[in-house]
Amino acid sequence: MIDIGQLRKEFQDERLIEEDLLEDPYDQFEIWFNDACKAQIASPNAMVLSTIDLTGMPRSRTVLLRKIERNGFTFFTRYDSEKAIHIDNNPKVSLHFHWKELNREVTISGTLFKTSVGESRTFFSSCNRKLRLAARIPYMESPIDYQKLVEKLEGLDIQYDGTQIPMPDWWGGYRIEAIRFEFWQGRSNYLHDRFEYCNCDSSTWKRQRIAP
Ligand SMILES: Cc1cc2nc3c(=O)[nH]c(=O)nc-3n(C[C@H](O)[C@H](O)[C@H](O)COP(=O)(O)O)c2cc1C
Repeated sequence: MIDIGQLRKEFQDERLIEEDLLEDPYDQFEIWFNDACKAQIASPNAMVLSTIDLTGMPRSRTVLLRKIERNGFTFFTRYDSEKAIHIDNNPKVSLHFHWKELNREVTISGTLFKTSVGESRTFFSSCNRKLRLAARIPYMESPIDYQKLVEKLEGLDIQYDGTQIPMPDWWGGYRIEAIRFEFWQGRSNYLHDRFEYCNCDSSTWKRQRIAP
């Protein structure tokens, strides 16, 4: 049995120093995101989205970041999913990126807002056919009959053969309006570099180094 207590990657000693940080955390994120892309990390846009369920219990899952903009980060999903039920009830969420090859993580907290139908449609039409077909399968109660799911997909494949696949009403995007960013750079001496940005009064970002 592997001793997971000793399972740890030694960090390369990359530093994150205050003088190198940009004023705006979205700009800082873009620099790190580009570094992750350049490092050819698999799915650098994969992020863990944590929501709070109706009983107050947190739940996490991975989604793909699809747009990085000044006013927030966008992902797309089903509005009839469990996560959407959580978000309807409590739109405050956390997003987490771990780029392990760079010994970096970024954590973001904020509030989610639905994207406009037009924006969701534009993104939907850019997705591959398999995703668009699967998205059109209506909500199914659990426990799921997988064979029924496959049959529905096959039916949709025939129905939309050679025609446009419209975005279903139950599909769309969410954009986070962030109030906090944290940038973490792992160090070999365990005194990791951590900086948080807080958007206290919605116009300026306050930045500080925090404990490793
Ligand atoms: C790498 C990866 C990327 C994913 N991207 C998405 C995504 O962009 N949107 C989405 O709805 N689900 C995505 N999923 C599936 C979700 O993790 C999750 O299983 C699904 O959305 C159902 O979650 P829920 O029941 O909590 O709503 C992805 C999973 C993985 C592993």
